[in-house]
Amino acid sequence: MNTIEAIRHRRSIKQYDPNYVMNQEDLNTILQAAVLAPTSFNIQHWRFVHVQDQAIRQQLRAAAWDQAQVTDASTLLLVTGDTLSWQESPERYWANVDQQTRETLVTMLQDFYRDREWLQRDEVIRSGAMAAQNIMLAAEDLGYQTSPMIGFDIDKVGEIIRLPENHVIVMMLAIGKGTTQAYPRGGQLPLSEIVIKDQF
Ligand SMILES: Cc1cc2nc3c(=O)[nH]c(=O)nc-3n(C[C@H](O)[C@H](O)[C@H](O)COP(=O)(O)O)c2cc1C
Repeated sequence: MNTIEAIRHRRSIKQYDPNYVMNQEDLNTILQAAVLAPTSFNIQHWRFVHVQDQAIRQQLRAAAWDQAQVTDASTLLLVTGDTLSWQESPERYWANVDQQTRETLVTMLQDFYRDREWLQRDEVIRSGAMAAQNIMLAAEDLGYQTSPMIGFDIDKVGEIIRLPENHVIVMMLAIGKGTTQAYPRGGQLPLSEIVIKDQF
């Protein structure tokens, strides 16, 4: 499947075969695709919580409007991110470049994020969302269906997964073998409405 096909084919699927088990190789392929998403200054804010414990899945489902995909999909990921990752040994984000380049980049990124909490949070959401899209497209390519979700009690889910301070939940992602078709598309806005020429 090429990229355009995967983008066109991906739909949100809500019913899954609860007996299907994703193999470890496919999960690794999906997670390796996730971490190739771009992040500002290569900070890689994302932290993926892979929920396998069925009791925890049940708790999450209860906190997520009883959405069946939370327990039934083979894989459940909580895409979260660390708002303080910009200051946590940032030199490791540029481990492979020469020292001078590394020091320049670390100084730049620290100056950019310091004292700007709103930007630190925005960046987690930006990074996590791009990783989530990589996950969904990689899963599509491997023959799985996916369901992105924010329909849940965010505080409750944070409690259940023991979300650390300074971390943010980006979304929940169910991945597995769908058993139903997607609803017809809701309808995409025309490009003439959403593409602005030069200036608003
Ligand atoms: C961040 C995000 C959160 C979503 N939350 C839910 C959800 O909680 N439950 C649900 O059934 N669908 C959820 N959706 C799916 C959207 O309804 C769906 O993406 C949209 O209708 C477009 O349909 P498609 O994904 O099949 O193209 C969510 C999608 C996104 C991107």
